Amino acid sequence: MANRINPSILAADFVNIESELGRIRSADLVHVDIMDNHFVPNLTFGLGMVERLQQVSPLPLDIHLMIDDPERWAPGYAEAGAYSVTFHAEATTEPVALARSLRQIGARAGIALKPGTDVAPYLELLSEFDQVLVMTVEPGFGGQSFMESTMPKLVQLRTAVQKTGLDVWLQVDGGITAQTIEIAAMAGADTFVAGSSVFGAENPAAQIGLLRERAASHRHGAGNLEL
Ligand code: DX5
Ligand code: ZN
Repeated sequence: MANRINPSILAADFVNIESELGRIRSADLVHVDIMDNHFVPNLTFGLGMVERLQQVSPLPLDIHLMIDDPERWAPGYAEAGAYSVTFHAEATTEPVALARSLRQIGARAGIALKPGTDVAPYLELLSEFDQVLVMTVEPGFGGQSFMESTMPKLVQLRTAVQKTGLDVWLQVDGGITAQTIEIAAMAGADTFVAGSSVFGAENPAAQIGLLRERAASHRHGAGNLEL
């Protein structure tokens, strides 16, 4: 099982974003947080920014939409060439239809769950998604503390993925550090978003390497303690 490290540019210097992208070349994907000041209280950037990032980024884009009305906006991110587009379960009543339209455009489709959202209804829909994002903080801001209380959802997801044999990535986002990544990896995550712990490090490349190593050595089911 491969692990992926996706730095979140929410913690980058927005004014020098192109050189910031250069500091994370050794990562797998660039995580881009889209916030609309409605679904979450914070506001970041939108489609125009992503279209430009798509032109300059050496890594594929992993779009995390923290927005209302994803039916209206999500397809545009897929059309812009994003590698994956993840919308929130709480923001739509038609997650399967939306995921299908994203896949049809050519993007990987992801569904995100806030810490308080139950995973059970989505376990039987796994074939409709390429990625499930378990939020490990309340969405909206970087630099918050990892919520270990969300880990049972990952265990359930990993068990369901193993049972079905589907290649669905299990992503965690929020408060991921060299310590908490071990907990998330053991619970079953394979795709790790890290904002402040990567861009706040003196040497982001070394931090990416460390996160990668810790995730690999604490892989779910590799004789590690499971939750
Ligand atoms: C929070 C965002 C995260 C954020 C993570 O709502 O979805 O992607 O950038 O930042 P850290 O790693 O600092 O918690
Ligand atoms: Zn995010």
